[in-house]
Amino acid sequence: MSAALLTAEGLTKVYGGGGSASNASTVCALDAVSLDIHEAETVALIGPNGAGKSTLLKSLVGLLPTSSGTVSALGERFSGEPSAAQRHAIRRQIGFVFQDHGLVGRMSALTNVVHGWLGQPGGWRAVHQSTAPAEARQRALAALADVRLTDKARARVDELSGGQAQRVAIARAVMRKPRLLIADEPAASLDPAAGHEVMRRFVDLANARGLTLVFTSHDMDHALSYADRIVALKAGKLAFDRKSTDVSPQTLRDLFHG
Ligand SMILES: Nc1ncnc2c1ncn2[C@@H]1O[C@H](COP(=O)(O)OP(=O)(O)OP(=O)(O)O)[C@@H](O)[C@H]1O
Ligand SMILES: [Mg+2]
Repeated sequence: MSAALLTAEGLTKVYGGGGSASNASTVCALDAVSLDIHEAETVALIGPNGAGKSTLLKSLVGLLPTSSGTVSALGERFSGEPSAAQRHAIRRQIGFVFQDHGLVGRMSALTNVVHGWLGQPGGWRAVHQSTAPAEARQRALAALADVRLTDKARARVDELSGGQAQRVAIARAVMRKPRLLIADEPAASLDPAAGHEVMRRFVDLANARGLTLVFTSHDMDHALSYADRIVALKAGKLAFDRKSTDVSPQTLRDLFHG
């Protein structure tokens, strides 16, 4: 197996109370979680509400200071939080997709995807697709084609369906050629058909480009169908970590009801 892209060793996150779990007002959101995620894997993080999925996702890429344990993300190793230089090095290599897609509704799908180029040298020209460098436009059109939205490139995002808008957000996330895609409930607010379409396009795009994809989900169908591997959390602890083909319906029932 290839080298780990993300590693957590004894990762613990306590919210409130300055890091001490003994105070009644603190919440131990992650409790000594250890895992490795390898290049080109597709990993689903699952578990009941409040299990710590979003906290783990953010902690693994240095978006949240942790209380103890060590993280290694894309070659940068840190405890607590990354240095500014490490944070910059990590973020450069990640594409983010969130439940609330964060697109600009009154702008076209193409301009929104081109926005993923902002932050590159000369990136200010990406405020609109008409002024964007040719390379940015070409990449944006290729990414829109990958998520099957070529015909909507000129449509305003606020005239797209929720599923189409989320596919625009996925296209935007790959603009800077990330190695890693991080998605927190990318299909949560969509109907079943649109949810499957978004996940299918997301995973196909990640696989075609050899990208690592880590996503959280409440949809067990999505976790089982689209992830190679399922990492389950319960009350901040690792409940199981196994290939999705080895996860049974009973295992899932135990996770949510046991
Ligand atoms: N900013 C915060 N301040 C204090 N407590 C927090 C904060 N964010 C999360 N928590 C707590 O940490 C625990 C884990 O939350 P987290 O959001 O990681 O869970 P989750 O598995 O993503 O849940 P959901 O399925 O509802 O999205 C919960 O008990 C939550 O209340
Ligand atoms: Mg969450």
